[in-house]
Amino acid sequence: MGEFLRNAWYMAGWAGELGENGFTREICGVPTFFYRLADGSPAAMQDRCPHRFAPLSMGTRDGDLVVCPYHGLAFGPDGKCARNPFAERIPAGSSVPAFAVRELDGIVWLWRGDRDTADDSLIPAFPFVPDAPGWRTLTGYTLMEANYEYGTDNLLDLSHIEFVHKGSFAGQGVIFAGQHSVRDEGDTLHSDWWMPDIPPPSVAAGIFPPDMRTDHWLDMRWNAPASMRLNVGVCPHGAGRDAGFEVPQAHILTPANQHQTHYFWSTSRPSEAANPEEDAFLLALFRQAFDDEDKPVIEAAYRNVQANLERGGDFWAEKPLSLGIDQGGTRARRKIEAMLKAEANG
Ligand code: FES
Ligand SMILES: [Fe+2]
Repeated sequence: MGEFLRNAWYMAGWAGELGENGFTREICGVPTFFYRLADGSPAAMQDRCPHRFAPLSMGTRDGDLVVCPYHGLAFGPDGKCARNPFAERIPAGSSVPAFAVRELDGIVWLWRGDRDTADDSLIPAFPFVPDAPGWRTLTGYTLMEANYEYGTDNLLDLSHIEFVHKGSFAGQGVIFAGQHSVRDEGDTLHSDWWMPDIPPPSVAAGIFPPDMRTDHWLDMRWNAPASMRLNVGVCPHGAGRDAGFEVPQAHILTPANQHQTHYFWSTSRPSEAANPEEDAFLLALFRQAFDDEDKPVIEAAYRNVQANLERGGDFWAEKPLSLGIDQGGTRARRKIEAMLKAEANG
């Protein structure tokens, strides 16, 4: 079974989830409690007291200390036990793993490696997630019963739109009319589709007349472990991308554990104005696409290999057929393998 990268940023949740009480989410096999310090900055620690393992999220707060609900040990944001109600002495081994956390672009990010090695420059940018000027952004979440790399395969190979998303995004053959290219840019991977001279795709309905010829693009950017941005664009055929419009989306996968994945997604529409009807329509469309269309096929495909993976096999041992269109997911897997190897050689 694969391991998880340590020196990488994992999306833990939307910043709005960090309310009064914080939230708990399993990240790479570790139930983790996210909360805000008195100065508003986010913090995270394993949601398990080292004494009798009570979830610290059930406890109370004393300033920046998290107080265990069971017997009252209190922990600081660095995970160190700061108070033992039964003695002056703080017992050895009483720390809880605590993590470096950042809040950027309306997203809470967790660094799995040592706190003092957290490298902020590696946080991928999603500047459109909080409503950017002129845009309104909708966010969502789905728990997927599959390893996160099977979700990456899905997102880096959008040819599945033609088959899986007949009821929602409706490819109508345009993917087959397009060209697919995958390229590296340092540690970033791009998996892009370019579909010139086609009728307006569904995303352009109401923006361009149905009898117009358009150029359409789907540009996917990937950063380890599985944080993806999709730009969905349409312009009048031959007029250049600047003459059209582009909708940015976030598709960010975080392993809960080997067999479950948190799928955070966002889409934006080019208007700041509240429009509950349009929001409801878009949310329903995306929920249909991800919950009713992607999720069942990804989970069922994963179930077909899960038993072998649990017996110690890996993805490659299943001898997956290569069709060319899948090279984005393949390269992402290779990049993760190389990064894991580099971490192991340290
Ligand atoms: S379980 Fe936390 S102090 Fe006992
Ligand atoms: Fe999909």
